[in-house]
Amino acid sequence: MSQTTQNTRLIRMEGGYPLEGTVRIQGSKNATLPVMAACLLISDKCVLRGCPQITDVMYMGTLIKSTGAKVEQTMGVNDMDIVIESTDIQECRLPSRYVSAMRSSVILMGALLGRLGEVYVDYPGGCVIGERPINLHLYGLEKLGAQIWTEGNHIHAYADELIGTEIRFPFSSVGATQNTILAAVTAKGTTVIWNAAKEPEVTALCAFLNQAGADIRIHKDFMESGKIVIHGVELCRLHGVDYCVVPDRIVAGTYLFAALAAGGNITLENIPISHLDSVCEVITGMGGIFSYHADNNSLTLYAPNRSELRNISYIETDIYPGFPTDLQSPLLAAACVANGKLMIKEKIFSSRFKIIEELQRMGADIAVTSEECAIVTGVSTLEGRNVIAKELRGGAALVIAGLAAEGITTVSDICYINRGYQDIAGDFAKLGARISYD
Ligand code: EPZ
Repeated sequence: MSQTTQNTRLIRMEGGYPLEGTVRIQGSKNATLPVMAACLLISDKCVLRGCPQITDVMYMGTLIKSTGAKVEQTMGVNDMDIVIESTDIQECRLPSRYVSAMRSSVILMGALLGRLGEVYVDYPGGCVIGERPINLHLYGLEKLGAQIWTEGNHIHAYADELIGTEIRFPFSSVGATQNTILAAVTAKGTTVIWNAAKEPEVTALCAFLNQAGADIRIHKDFMESGKIVIHGVELCRLHGVDYCVVPDRIVAGTYLFAALAAGGNITLENIPISHLDSVCEVITGMGGIFSYHADNNSLTLYAPNRSELRNISYIETDIYPGFPTDLQSPLLAAACVANGKLMIKEKIFSSRFKIIEELQRMGADIAVTSEECAIVTGVSTLEGRNVIAKELRGGAALVIAGLAAEGITTVSDICYINRGYQDIAGDFAKLGARISYD
C-alpha cells in the first residue's frame, strides 16, 4: 500500500547498505497534472493510465471535481488509473485551499478559459524554492484575448473568444507553455508559440491533446526554436481518449543518485530512457556504469565502490535537455560522499539550496558561495541525524543522504516528499535498504 494512503509522519532508515534489486518507475507527476487539466477541455470520458498515487494528483483531482466533472481513481498494483468525465462542467471558481496547496493548479486557467470562457483562481504564491511568479502564464493568455483582472490575491480571467496569435516567450517556462497550449487548442485561427519549454512533459501534453482531436504541430526545429504551431479546433471536435502517462524521469534520476550514494546496482523498469541523457552523462562521469535492456525497457546502474565514486567538477541546471533543476538536490546528496569537489550552479530557481543546511547537519561539506552556486567537497562518511524535509526534491535528497550515512536517519515532514514520490521508502526497501515509514 503506497504511503499516500497511510497516515505517515516520517521516514526512518539505517544507512550503509548497498542497493540491489529492481523497481518500477511510477508515472510522471509533471506529465499527469497538465493532462488532467486538459481533460476539462473534453466533453467526454478520458482514461489516464499509469498515474502516480501522490498527493499532488489527488489535489488536482479534487480541483477538477470542483468544476462539476466526475473523477474516479482506481488503484492498480503499481500505479493508478484516473477516469475524468467533463461532460457537464459549469463551475469556473476554483477553491482557494487547493490552489494554494498546489502551485501547478494555475494551469487550470487555460483549460477553463478554453472550455467555459471564464475562470476565478487565486495566485498560487511562492514556495521554498523561489518566488514562482505567473506573469508569463498571464502574458500568454492575454495574447490569446483573455481579459484578466487581479484583486489582491484573486485573479479573474474572461474571454468572449480566444483568438490565435503569435506568442514569443522571453524565456522558457513549462507551466506558462502548457497554460498557453491549453487555451490555444480551441482558439479561433492559428497560434504560433516561440521559445516554448522543451520538457518532455510539454510534448506529452501535446501528444495527449492531438490524440483527443486537437491539431498541434511540434516544429521540426523545436529543440532550437521552441516553436509549436496550434491550429484551433471546435470544442466539439475534441473527444475522449485512453492514454498512458509517461514515466517519471525525476523519480528515475532520484533513484539513480541514491544507488550512486549508497553503492550497489539497481535495475529500473518502465524507464523514460530518452529523457535521461543529461542525467546519465553526469552519473557516468561520477563512475556509474549503465546497461539498457530494450526488450523490457529497463536500465541497470552499476555504482562504483565508495572509494571510486568521484565528483565531476562542474554542473549547472538548465532547461531541457540540460540537467534538470529537479535533480539538483538529489545530485547534491550523492556528491556529498563522492571524492573531490563539485561546483553546482542553479540557473532555474532563485533559492533551491535550502536543503543544504540539513545535509550539513549530517556532516556534509558544502559551501554556498552565492544565491545560485554551491561547492560540495566529498566526505568519507555522513552521520545519521533527525532531519527535516523542506520541499519535495530536497526531502528526497535527505533520504538519499540517509541511505549513504552511518547510523539512523529520520526525515520528517514527509508530506513534501509524498507530493511527488508514490512510495519512496517502499521502493528503496525493495532494493534492500533498511528503511520504513514511522
Ligand atoms: C515545472 O514548474 C515543474 N512543475 C517543476 O517541478 C520544475 O522544476 C519546473 O517546471 C522547471 O522544469 C510541474 O510541472 C508541476 P517554470 P513551473 O515555469 O512550470 C520562472 C517538481 O519538483 N517563471 O518552467 O512552475 C520561475 O520562477 C517541480 O516536480 C517566471 O518568472 O516552472 C522559474 O524561475 C518543482 N514567470 C523559471 O521561470 C512565470 O510566469 C522556470 O519556471 C513562470 C515561471
